Parts: sequence; structure tokens; C-alpha cells
Amino acid sequence: MKKRLFGVDSRFSLEKYLKKFNKRNILLVRSRNSFFTNGGSELIEKLEDSYNFFHYFNFSNNITLSEVKKGKGYLQKNNCELILSIGGGSVIDMGKSINFLNNFNNNKINLLTSRKKISVLPNIVLPTTSGTGSEETHFATVYFRNKKYSIQNSLLNPQVVIIDPYFTFQVPKRITACTGLDALCQSIESYWSLNSNKISKSFALKSIKLILDNIFSAFNSNNKKAREKLAYAANYSGRAINISKTTAPHALSYAISTKFKIEHGYAVALTLGKFLKINFHIAKKNNYPKKNESLKNLRRIYSFFGVSKPEEAEKKWVELLKKLNLESDFKKIGIDNHKTINYLVKNVNMERLSNHPVKMNKADLIKIFLD
Ligand SMILES: [Fe+2]
Repeated sequence: MKKRLFGVDSRFSLEKYLKKFNKRNILLVRSRNSFFTNGGSELIEKLEDSYNFFHYFNFSNNITLSEVKKGKGYLQKNNCELILSIGGGSVIDMGKSINFLNNFNNNKINLLTSRKKISVLPNIVLPTTSGTGSEETHFATVYFRNKKYSIQNSLLNPQVVIIDPYFTFQVPKRITACTGLDALCQSIESYWSLNSNKISKSFALKSIKLILDNIFSAFNSNNKKAREKLAYAANYSGRAINISKTTAPHALSYAISTKFKIEHGYAVALTLGKFLKINFHIAKKNNYPKKNESLKNLRRIYSFFGVSKPEEAEKKWVELLKKLNLESDFKKIGIDNHKTINYLVKNVNMERLSNHPVKMNKADLIKIFLD
């Protein structure tokens, strides 16, 4: 049974859970720098007499297969019996990916999509940003030669999750914006995803409301209460996509973020506004089996922005990005020619695209960037 703890100072419960698992050698997957400023290192220092922590932190934001292999080697060399992840989405995904790869003797690329039975080490997770909700999902993103792979197994969902908003109190503005947008996009995509159900939809709605009510206050004035709410919202977004998965904006984002070296949440948010509009028009003109449901879902999302029409929703989205100091003009980012657009469309993640509520062909995707 998964254990979740919420609240400021809940991080101090870590000791209790470490005692429960009773493992001495621990692989500590952590962020490279922010670990020393967000409260992570202080927390670990207090536990160093009782446990051996082997720190793994030298990896990129878009984690690669070779970095996961290194982490696995480090875990095995030091006989670690528990994985503790303290960090943002990449850190948490790294912990889950090492746990997965630890099951196999070789490190071949086709293992990333393996659906074989696995066994896992206990994994305790303390998120330090309010973004991916990776602490709640059974999948992890790993890149190989710039292509995105999704490791997937129900056992990868971490057993213990401690959401202490204290970790997020000093997150810089830009990261607050990008991680908040990731959680918001995940929740919107989850809500309209073909795989959504009643439970995922209720998580998604809670998350959308919390983010829209609190993101500006966290971004502009570093309001602690607002940051606390964003931490919970991100967790809800993870629980929502754990059921529904994400859709077209995420499917396009992986190529955008690797090509232009921009943050994941920002890369997703860049196209989401366009989908708020185009989904409506595609659903409206064609006779989809789930047409009415798709339109109803969109109208519900529009209502959070205080509008009822697709064009108004897109406009509100552009305003949202502007208020978070993020450019929404594709041309200014470098998506300004057919070659680049074709590259992004060609590299769309088909698995995530298949969850999208309306059918998108190549021409529709190209239109997203030209519109
Ligand atoms: Fe995401």
C-alpha cells in the first residue's frame, strides 16, 4: 500500500520510514546544486550516523540511458538496498529508472520498453519542485540518442512519498513558472485524455483550480501558502496522469525541449494554447464517437479561464504565459521555418499522441506551429 505524507515539515518523517525498511546502504539520487539550498542536505546530514548514503547526482535534466546505467552500476557496486530520491522530476525519474534497469543483466535499449515481470527495491521520494508529479506515476522518461522512451511498470510507482512544500520555498521564479505549467498542462491533458476516468478527472480538476489560484502569487511574491498549494496540485496532476497519461502537447514537447534546450514544462505549455482551440474545431466538424464528451470536457476547462469560446481560451493561455515572463511566439523561439516544423512533427511521440481526444494528422500538427 502506497504511503503519502503531506505538509510543511513532513520531511522529518523520513527517519521513521528508513527505520521501517531497515536498510543500511542507500542510493541517494539527488539534484546537483539545489540539494544544498532547499533543505535536502540538512535533512540527510542528521541521518548520516545511522545510514550509508551513496550520492548520485551527475546527470542531465533529460536523463539518458547511459546515465541510468551509471547509476545502476553505482547502486550495485555499493550494495544499496533502498533508493531515496530527493529532487525534481528528473531526479525522481532517475531513481525509478535505476530501479527498473537493476532487474536486467545487460543495458540494451530494447529493455526500456520491456514489459517483463520485475522486482524492485524500496523507493522513497521527496519532491523538491511542484511539477511533474513523477512521485505518483508508474512510468519514467529516458532519452536515447535524443529520442524519448517511457519506461513503464506498475511496481515503479514509489512506495513512500513525502510532499513537504518547504523544499519549494526557495525555488527560482523561472523554475516555479515552468514546473507549475507542467503540472497545469498535465492536468488539462489528463482531463481531456481518452484514457481519463472519474477518478483521474477529479484529481485533474482539483489540480487545475489550485494552480490557477496560486501560481501568480507563488511566482510574483514567493507566497508560502501559495507554494504549499502548488506542491499539492503537482501531486494531484501526477495521480491524474498515472491513470490517463498525457496527450498531444506532451507528445510534441519532447522534441521541442531537446532541440531548443528549454524546460519540459515550458515546451509543453508552448503548444497547449493552440490545442485548446484546435481540439474544439476538429471535434466540432467531424463525427467522432466521443465528440460530445470532448466538447464538454473542453468547455469545462474553458470555464476555469472564465471564457466559453476556443479563441478566447487560447488568448487567455497566451496571457498566462506572458504573466509568467514566457515567450509564446514560436518564431521568437526559433520555430520559424518548415524544416524545423517538419522535424518536430516527425519526432512526435506516437504513444502519447494516441491518447489525444481528437485525431490529429500530420497536417493538423503542422498547423499548430503555423497558426
Ligand atoms: Fe510533464
